[in-house]
Amino acid sequence: MSRKGIILAGGVGTRLHPLTLVTSKQLLPVYDKPMIYYPLSALMLAGIRDILIITTPQDQTAFKHLLGTGKQWNIRIDYAEQSAPNGIAQAFVIGADFLRGHSSCLILGDNIVYGHGLPDALRRASARDQGATIFSYWVDDPQRYGVIEFDGDDDVLSIEEKPQNPKSNWAAIGVYFYDGEVIELVKQLTPSARGELEITDLNVLYMRKRRLKVERLGRGFAWFDAGTHDSLLEAAEFVRVLQRRQGQLVCAPDEIAFHNGWIGAAELKELAAKVGKTQYARRLLDNLR
Ligand code: DAU
Repeated sequence: MSRKGIILAGGVGTRLHPLTLVTSKQLLPVYDKPMIYYPLSALMLAGIRDILIITTPQDQTAFKHLLGTGKQWNIRIDYAEQSAPNGIAQAFVIGADFLRGHSSCLILGDNIVYGHGLPDALRRASARDQGATIFSYWVDDPQRYGVIEFDGDDDVLSIEEKPQNPKSNWAAIGVYFYDGEVIELVKQLTPSARGELEITDLNVLYMRKRRLKVERLGRGFAWFDAGTHDSLLEAAEFVRVLQRRQGQLVCAPDEIAFHNGWIGAAELKELAAKVGKTQYARRLLDNLR
């Protein structure tokens, strides 16, 4: 059974000033494209074509307007609502009917990951049909994240959600691969002290069963959780600098669909025409030179 993808783009998070958000933050631009294009690109790079996007009830129309059914990329996009931000692991309660026993990859709608070798790392994780695979990334401010502690043999000793005294600098990024058992395991979770079904608790369940694999992303990768005003700006800066230097797009679903062979040159031209006389369109067309 092929792996399915879920993008959780529900709650706005608590670290952006609410008055700066007239819509879900995942619809805001990160430099030249909407934030949701970045996690969507990661799923597409992993070869995943069947995707559920979970949004707030009020913003679902806007997401549908932006992404439609996915047919422009020859993928399939479904939508579901999360009425309140009751936790990241709730994605598997909401997405149970969508997954129907399939393995999955969950990505947080505000996570941006980029780097040489990323498609390989994602496809490797996707190819494992047993257990869970998560990714860790060395950060300077681990207390903001789920923190992973390793022993000398690289085995995971603990994962803690936003610990005051982090046991390492290895953060768990918001990209999670699970086997079909996730739907059963999520039923064992109870809300945490902050009232959420925690993704970290789910990963701990896999860890205890010795079915959790953690892949470390080295320093050649970039990972942003665009959940604060500063990280949002930093992510946009990163994309701008890289694109201007290389003249290539970072995380453009149109281009990825083309490179994956899901659409052809004629479709790519149509997609470029839709975005007008922008640099984004010109760079899409560069793929046909
Ligand atoms: O970004 C990686 C981190 O993401 C992990 O290291 C943590 O273990 C994980 O708990 C999570 O931490 P955050 O503090 O970043 O989670 P936050 O509550 O900000 O939510 C992340 C995104 O998911 C955000 O775009 C809002 C969305 N979300 C969140 C919750 C709790 C939902 O759509 N629904 C929800 O119920």
